Amino acid sequence: MAIRIPMSSPDIGDTEVQAVVETLRTPTLSIGPRLEAFERAAAAVAGVTWGVGVNSGTSGLHLCMIAAGVGDGDLVITTPFSFIASANCVLYERGIPVFVDVDPATGNIDPHLAASAADDLTRGGVAADRWLPPVLRGAHRSAGRLRALLPVHAFGQPADMDPLLDTARNHDLALIEDACEAIGAAYKGRPAGSLGDAAVFAFYPNKQITTGEGGMIVTNREPWAHLFRSLRNQGRDVFDGWLNHTRLGYNYRLDELSAALGLAQVQRLDALLAKRARVAAWYNERLTDIELIATPRIAPTTTHMSWFVYVVRILPPAQRDTVVRLLAERGIPSRPYFTPIHLQPFYRERFGYRGGEFPVTEHLGAVSLALPFSSVMTEAQVDVVCEALYDAVQRSVPLSAPGGIER
Ligand SMILES: Cc1ncc(COP(=O)(O)O)c(C=O)c1O
Repeated sequence: MAIRIPMSSPDIGDTEVQAVVETLRTPTLSIGPRLEAFERAAAAVAGVTWGVGVNSGTSGLHLCMIAAGVGDGDLVITTPFSFIASANCVLYERGIPVFVDVDPATGNIDPHLAASAADDLTRGGVAADRWLPPVLRGAHRSAGRLRALLPVHAFGQPADMDPLLDTARNHDLALIEDACEAIGAAYKGRPAGSLGDAAVFAFYPNKQITTGEGGMIVTNREPWAHLFRSLRNQGRDVFDGWLNHTRLGYNYRLDELSAALGLAQVQRLDALLAKRARVAAWYNERLTDIELIATPRIAPTTTHMSWFVYVVRILPPAQRDTVVRLLAERGIPSRPYFTPIHLQPFYRERFGYRGGEFPVTEHLGAVSLALPFSSVMTEAQVDVVCEALYDAVQRSVPLSAPGGIER
């Protein structure tokens, strides 16, 4: 019988099950000791002082935009090669995500482009115009202030942070790391999550560790940590009574069951990441130097990769979308990852993107393919995927293409 291979899988052991069941037997299912312990453990992973648990990575990013002072029309420089939440969080505060293209090797934001954009946007006028979304060009005088840089550590690989930190310093910008895909990664020996003013990890079930739904903001900025605690808890301040609300807040709390699960998972983080690295190595062994397939590129600045997904590139004349279909016919899931944010229907409609604006991102969006990946995947399953992939890639080459095969 063929083995069914899922796209991703959580890695839940007896310790996790026991931790959740024990929590269920206590009277405290929200705002309790498990959240505090999980926050301390997550902050330690990032090497920072404060962790603030929230109910998703997206809500964590939203709160970071508030802390960064993003308001009406304010600009935030970020990447279009990401999951949509990393740009949506700017819109929640009525700001404008200013996309810059990415490094073709890693798919992470190109720090040189980010620096040029920051220079031009600060200067304003015509220079600023070309960085703005199409519908806002010519309206630059009404644009708000440039407030923040929001790099994303795509696929578990840190963005090139040192030049981004220089840009943030030069222009007095907040630097928020979207580390939703990168818990446990390191950049030049420094942990993801410790590199900017604040960072966010996410714990959806496909992530390196999961809480079901959940996220964690990590920061060294004490006033921000207090602000995050208030904002996630309906705007209550520490000294407020239950029905006093100092500011507009949200219910972004992480419950105790999720926190108990997260704590048990984060205590196994090193082992879980090592298992993921082993699966990535099995894929690399089988796919490196295979015609029409390019394996993931790890930058020299990435001193520790936190494998979130295993994403290959399907090179022309092979056809990525045909490969997806042929794999699916054999029961093997795969995903185009990422679909560029500016090409999502909502962004096209609202900001006037048509395609062609960010060529590197669009190229990566057209050729990237995430393969089934998790810490519980076996070498035999990797074999099955790779065999099917070799075949699908060859069969996807149109007969008319140079090098197209007879069939
Ligand atoms: C890069 C990136 N940013 C943000 C998020 C949002 O996290 P969540 O799904 O927990 O809201 C994710 C998760 O999928 C992500 O991959």
